[in-house]
Amino acid sequence: MAAGRTRGGRWVASLLLVVLAAACTAATSDGTADDDPVPETDGEEVAMLRDVAPEGLLVGSAVAGGGHHRDQSYPDPFTADDAYRDRLAAEFSSLTPENQLKWEFLRPSPDEFVFGPADAIVDFAEQHGQAVRGHALLWHNQNPDWLEQADLGADELRGLLRDHIATVVGRYAGRIHQWDVANEIFDDRGELRLEDNLWLRELGPDVVADAFRWAHEADPGAELFLNDYNAESINVKSSAYLDLIRELLADGVPVHGFGVQGHLGIQWGFPGDVEANLRRFDGLGIATAVTELDVRMVLGEGGEPTDEQLARQADDHRRLLEACLAVDGCRSFTVWGFPDRYSWVPHFFPEEGAATILWDDLAAKPAYEALHDTLSAARAKTGGP
Ligand code: G3I
Repeated sequence: MAAGRTRGGRWVASLLLVVLAAACTAATSDGTADDDPVPETDGEEVAMLRDVAPEGLLVGSAVAGGGHHRDQSYPDPFTADDAYRDRLAAEFSSLTPENQLKWEFLRPSPDEFVFGPADAIVDFAEQHGQAVRGHALLWHNQNPDWLEQADLGADELRGLLRDHIATVVGRYAGRIHQWDVANEIFDDRGELRLEDNLWLRELGPDVVADAFRWAHEADPGAELFLNDYNAESINVKSSAYLDLIRELLADGVPVHGFGVQGHLGIQWGFPGDVEANLRRFDGLGIATAVTELDVRMVLGEGGEPTDEQLARQADDHRRLLEACLAVDGCRSFTVWGFPDRYSWVPHFFPEEGAATILWDDLAAKPAYEALHDTLSAARAKTGGP
């Protein structure tokens, strides 16, 4: 048995709730009509993360599918794994399609839009009273080959992006409340990705402002974000975003938020000044969010984390959540999927893993307990619905 699995009673209670939830859920594999999967409970011990979150804070997860999942031996998690679906419905108040709204997934060919999987996630979210974050419209990664290799003039390429944003954002107007309009546009030196980002390279930096304007036209009610990794603390990258957003706002561009992804690793130490960093963006009058949290670690022989590693992972989760809770405009806190077997991490970093908050059998890890305790404490202080 993995280290830490026998600690505490909450995960046993959580498992019990999942079983109960499964029993009273008519979850279907096509995303249609489920009943409320969260049974009535009297005590906090069996409450899920969404239940213990303070009022106004969404607690979310990425929805597994596409991307690295396509290379794995398991079937599509969202449509085929009922226990996963039940937990997704019960535990979280916000969902982010992990890959299903990216260009590569949506646009296998120039004239084709594959909306089925994203539609199913949005329907599922509505059935379970969940918000949806849309990810991502303008990015250097996961663009289809036909797009990256197309020999188009600037006008045509610009038209393609404009049309894509109008079509995709317009389709989910009023249903997807936040969009990562521009994702990872700066590198770690705080330089715009003018080489590897197709849009910036071919259309120039002004395309970022245009993308926000087009998204706003398509859904004036949606909150429009920039989003990046290694931008949790005060550093050249987050400062580049601060400067850019200040300029965009001064030009009247509809930018509403900045997302720090939160792909952390215990080997690097916690980025200590997250709260101060988020406050800088709060000071511009925009929202902030933690959009893709996971905390990976280097695993030894046997691939099991140690108690010490799990404690460090829990601590990083707690500290990132505390930073978000301390900042008024941080109202959305999302983990990048669960359980560990569905994580993108081992696919990218073969020596690393155990990055999510749940074990493969959906039992709670210490990181889950840390989030639960921290949310409960915040709710006790500030109240809940
Ligand atoms: O496109 C290639 C294909 O040509 C090749 O045959 C195949 C072989 O493995 O790989 C394909 O690329 C895969 C890609 O998804 C596109 O489907 C990668 O292997 C696969 O690792 C990749 O995974 C996704 C990754 O984004 C791509 O960057 C993950 O599922 C997804 O969780 C991850 O999510 C990103 C966020 O969107 C943005 N922030 C960072 C986060 C983690 O990387």
